Amino acid sequence: MVFQSDLLQGKTALITGGGSGIGRGLALALAAHGCNVAVMGRRAEPVAAAADDIRALGVQAAAISADVRDPAAVEQAVAQAAELAGRLDILVNNAAGNFLCLAEDLSPNGFGAVVDIDLKGSFHASKAALPHLKARGGVVLNISSTLQYFGTAAQLHVSAAKAGVDALTRVLAVEWGGYGVRVNGIAPGPVADTEGVRRLLVGRAKETAVGSTPLGRLGSIEDVCNAALFICSDAAAFVTGVTLVVDGGLWLASNGMTEAWAASIEQAGS
Ligand code: COA
Repeated sequence: MVFQSDLLQGKTALITGGGSGIGRGLALALAAHGCNVAVMGRRAEPVAAAADDIRALGVQAAAISADVRDPAAVEQAVAQAAELAGRLDILVNNAAGNFLCLAEDLSPNGFGAVVDIDLKGSFHASKAALPHLKARGGVVLNISSTLQYFGTAAQLHVSAAKAGVDALTRVLAVEWGGYGVRVNGIAPGPVADTEGVRRLLVGRAKETAVGSTPLGRLGSIEDVCNAALFICSDAAAFVTGVTLVVDGGLWLASNGMTEAWAASIEQAGS
C-alpha cells in the first residue's frame, strides 16, 4: 500500500454508487485504511456484497439501497451512515449514469436522468451530510470527469452534469470552508474494468485512448483510489475547491491538432 494502513482510522465514510466499479474500489480502499464505510446504491445485492468485503477488512460497514435521485432516501442513508460509528467524516459522491447518445437524439428524460443522478444527486447527498461533516471538519469528494473540458460528442448530458458537479465543488468549498469542511473532486479519464469504459469505449476506441494517453495506458481503479486517499486524508488539509485530474495526461493530448503538431515537429527536426 502507498499510504499507511491507519490513514483514516476511526473515520466513517458514505459512498454513493458504492456497489460496483470505481465506487466499490473506493469503498474497499478507504476500509483498508481504517475507515468505516457505508455503501449506497440502487441495487441491494452489489451493495450487500461490498459491505461484506468491507467487514472482512476489520471495519464496520452498512449496505444501503437507495437512489440518489430521491432526497428523502438520501437523508435516511446519511443518517444510517452516521449511526454506524456515531459520526460521518467523508462523503464520496460517486453515483453516476452514462450512455452514448448524440444531442439530436437525446430525449428530455434521457438528459434529465443523468443530470438528476450526477449533479442533483451530489447536491442532495452533500446537503444531507453537511450537519454531520461540520461537527468535526469533514470531506466531500465528488467524482467528476474530463469529458466536459472539451466538446465530447454523444456526451452532452454527462458533460452538462459534470460541469455542474465541478461548479458545486468550487461553490461548496467556499461556502463550507468556514465549517472546516473541504470539498474536492477527482476527474478520472477512462478507467479499466469499469462500466463506464464498457459503455463508452466501444470497438477500437480503447486502443485509441491508450495510444493517445501520454502515460501510455488506461487508468486503474487503484489510481483513482490513491488520489482519493490523499484528498480524504490530513495530507490534503489545506486543499479545497480543487478537481484533481487522474487521466495520465489524456485530455491535454486530446485535441485534433495533436497529430498535426507531431507531423510538424518531425518535419522541423528533419
Ligand atoms: N440512448 C438514449 N437514451 C437513453 C439511453 C441510450 N443508450 N439509455 C437510456 N436512455 C434514456 C431513456 O430512453 C429514458 O428516456 P425516455 O423516457 O425519453 O425514453 C431516460 O434515458 C431514462 O432511462 P431509464 O432507463 O428509464 O432510466 P434509469 O433511471 O433506469 O437509468 C440511466 C438511468 C439512463 C443513466 C442508465 O443508463 C443507468 O442506470 N446507468 C447506471 C450505470 C451507468 O451508467 N454506469 C456508467 C457510469 S460512467
